[in-house]
Amino acid sequence: MLSGKRILVTGVLNRDSIAYAVARRSQEQGAQVLLTGFGRGRRLTERAARMLPEPCDVLELDVNRAEDLASLRTEIETRWGGIDGVLHAIAFAPADALGGDFLATPRESAEEAFRTSAYSLKALSEALLPLFGEDGGAIVGLDFDATVAWPAYDWMGVAKAALESVSRYLARDLGPRGIRVNLVSAGPLETLAAGGIPGFELLADGWSEAAPLGWDLRDPEPVADAACFLLSRLARGITGEIVHVDGGRHAIGAAV
Ligand SMILES: NC(=O)c1ccc[n+]([C@@H]2O[C@H](COP(=O)([O-])OP(=O)(O)OC[C@H]3O[C@@H](n4cnc5c(N)ncnc54)[C@H](O)[C@@H]3O)[C@@H](O)[C@H]2O)c1
Repeated sequence: MLSGKRILVTGVLNRDSIAYAVARRSQEQGAQVLLTGFGRGRRLTERAARMLPEPCDVLELDVNRAEDLASLRTEIETRWGGIDGVLHAIAFAPADALGGDFLATPRESAEEAFRTSAYSLKALSEALLPLFGEDGGAIVGLDFDATVAWPAYDWMGVAKAALESVSRYLARDLGPRGIRVNLVSAGPLETLAAGGIPGFELLADGWSEAAPLGWDLRDPEPVADAACFLLSRLARGITGEIVHVDGGRHAIGAAV
């Protein structure tokens, strides 16, 4: 499905990361993969990179640093000469922007959640745009359903609503260049980021019961497979879309 594709995968911190499953499935589908990591987490990312079916390199990227975005573009151009796909799997909110005390969050923390989790999709896309060739390509981000309010998710939920909108505007502007922009709206998965949300269990509990297909909090593969599909030519008619990979939970008002 991804034979010969050059795909940059951001957001791998460890082997529980959703992005790790995307990197692994992409390689299994024939893609060449590079990862990104930054700061103190980079050594963890490098460790995960060595566990992939085809161990790969990790490039430096703090998505909020213009210098990192510029050197990422140069580095990919030197190695690959271009790019076919990008996974955006980046989210962060300060502790006081999560956990249920929505009204107490200071503006700076809400802004940081927005910058790192939503604006970053535009920043990353803009930085890598010159690397896409005449055949275009695909950008895929990871979403959590932002059409409703959830327990504990707070300003990350607001940031995800922004991410959904950013992806539609990017789809509008990049479509004429053959670049598709889509999101996978995933059900809850036990990752490091999820563990950092106080009250994550309030949101995750009962998901499996309410989802017509059931849901395994420890299995990111259904999400990874959908991301691979969206990165592939099989999805060439799809952009500005949000594909729910959540066991069908989004379609159901309450557990039956
Ligand atoms: N785990 C879930 O339940 C769930 C559900 C739906 C969507 N998502 C989304 O999936 C994506 C990946 O999260 P995950 O759950 O796999 O957790 P994770 O902790 O494994 O990944 C989050 C990643 O974001 C990266 N990151 C944070 N700040 C960054 C910055 N400034 N620059 C570059 N990278 C930065 C981290 O290094 C990490 O690799 C996120 O967008 C998250 O919101 C997660």
